Amino acid sequence: MNHASAILAAPLAILLAACASQTYMSFQRDVYPILEHNCLYCHTPPKGRGYLLTRLNMQSYETLMQGTLYGPVIRPGDSRRSVFNMLVEGRADASMHMPHGRDEPLTGREIEVLRLWVEQGAHDN
Ligand code: HEC
Repeated sequence: MNHASAILAAPLAILLAACASQTYMSFQRDVYPILEHNCLYCHTPPKGRGYLLTRLNMQSYETLMQGTLYGPVIRPGDSRRSVFNMLVEGRADASMHMPHGRDEPLTGREIEVLRLWVEQGAHDN
């Protein structure tokens, strides 16, 4: 690398790192609060309706990743094919929109947080 490109590369690397850290989603900080406010009251044992019908328990990262009786609802790195994202984005049948039976869907920002987190690998971070 010549001198001029070395001078350009350093600020560029710092800039890229700053952008990445801004949009890097954390399960604990960004995702869990959304689930807590919008999903847990139905997706928690023993009485949550969504839990009773599907066994999908969102109380912890581990139980969320276990998914339903029929298997995982999250495919790390692939939000397009994750049922979890399909349902909050309204990409499935309207009767299956989550949060279930509420007029208010998640905000665009909340949907985007869940989408980015899954795209980034759905880590326990
Ligand atoms: C008012 C109750 C309620 C709330 C709130 C709720 N759910 Fe559900 N959820 C259900 C029920 C009931 C089912 C079972 C499917 C059905 O019968 O429609 C379900 C099923 C699911 C499934 C499994 C679908 C399948 O069959 O594979 C996913 C994923 C899901 N919910 C995600 C969420 C997410 C994410 C939230 C929060 C944004 C949420 N739910 C909030 C009631 C709820």
